[in-house]
Amino acid sequence: MKLKLSINQQFYNTHIDGDESLLDVLRNLGFKSVKKGCDTGACGVCSILINGEPTLSCQFLAARAEGKKITTVEGLGAKADKIVKAIINEGADQCGYCGPSLVLTIYAMKKELKDPTVDKIKHFLAGNLCRCSGYEGQLRGIKKYMGVK
Ligand code: FES
Repeated sequence: MKLKLSINQQFYNTHIDGDESLLDVLRNLGFKSVKKGCDTGACGVCSILINGEPTLSCQFLAARAEGKKITTVEGLGAKADKIVKAIINEGADQCGYCGPSLVLTIYAMKKELKDPTVDKIKHFLAGNLCRCSGYEGQLRGIKKYMGVK
């Protein structure tokens, strides 16, 4: 079937199978920052933003994405750099596999949490797994980015 997707404020026309996940379609379109991990909705590395909401692209049918605003980490530009720097400054840059999804989720979290606390941050990020770190370094950087002491 034909599909027209809005990704990072540009339109893409493509052909998909009716049962294809948005994850596979995005990767086929060249958005390799969208990673495939578990492919079962458990790890979070495939997260993107749909209409600003963090969404597991492996669990989202591509056919349902038409008419929605899709954002990958490439679409954040300098806003992503600020988040990455906050994490790197705490020595918590790791292999990078979970990085794009984490950055997108942190970006959405900053917009959503009006009164962030450590517990609220941990709750918001609970679905984003990192196989390298112990999360503490990342959390230090995220707290600084969020303005939490
Ligand atoms: Fe989608 Fe793991 S690949 S949640």
